[in-house]
Amino acid sequence: MLGWAKKIIYRFLFHRKRKRFIETYCRNCASTLQLREFEYIHPSGDLFIGENSQLLCWSAYNSVQPPQQLSPNLRIGKNFHATRNLTIQCAGNITIGDDVLVASDVFIINYNHGLSPLTASYLENKLDVSEVVIGNGVWLGNNVVVLPGVHIGDKTIIGAGSVVTRDVPPYSIAVGNPAKVIKKYNNKTQQWENIDK
Ligand SMILES: CC(C)(COP(=O)(O)OP(=O)(O)OC[C@H]1O[C@@H](n2cnc3c(N)ncnc32)[C@H](O)[C@@H]1OP(=O)(O)O)[C@@H](O)C(=O)NCCC(=O)NCCS
Repeated sequence: MLGWAKKIIYRFLFHRKRKRFIETYCRNCASTLQLREFEYIHPSGDLFIGENSQLLCWSAYNSVQPPQQLSPNLRIGKNFHATRNLTIQCAGNITIGDDVLVASDVFIINYNHGLSPLTASYLENKLDVSEVVIGNGVWLGNNVVVLPGVHIGDKTIIGAGSVVTRDVPPYSIAVGNPAKVIKKYNNKTQQWENIDK
């Protein structure tokens, strides 16, 4: 009996906390925004996230025995603008700086299923987590994929359809799959300059 009462109180408090989180940080986000384990999401304010987007954190992975405990920590800086259909899957650290612009259909993830082929399904392997950092003022074009372990420097632009598999330095334009730097910003001339191929 006491167990049920505890569950009801817990649910009530959980929903109140979730409502407060949404009212504080997600006022400018589409109502279709899905949150998983929102306690691990730390936005600085001014979030704009378009329709059909998801911010998903995992604090435990139960497909392995014993379950793998994880420490998700999704930090999003101020003035974040994501157009629509953004998915962020977070099992460890993902840090997104201030003034980041994200176009439609972008996917950011900071874990892989372990790569051992010896289990029946890759689902049975532990998650392999590595930090993703997206610097201040970065612009991710349509359909960009950011893979685990990647750091993207401040003010860098990732072209539409690119898959970012390695770090990209600040003030660069990177395109393609895998994304490669094609231009660097020259502060003296204030121009983007081609990188010699
Ligand atoms: C990355 C981008 C900004 C580059 O603009 P740019 O500096 O004017 O680039 P250029 O047109 O001079 O192209 C330079 C080279 O990169 C190639 N390139 C440009 N964008 C590319 C992309 N997304 N993927 C693959 N190659 C690309 C060009 O074909 C060109 O190759 P070449 O030298 O062999 O001919 C732009 O192409 C882009 O992808 N914008 C994103 C658009 C978007 O998603 N908007 C959403 C609104 S929020």
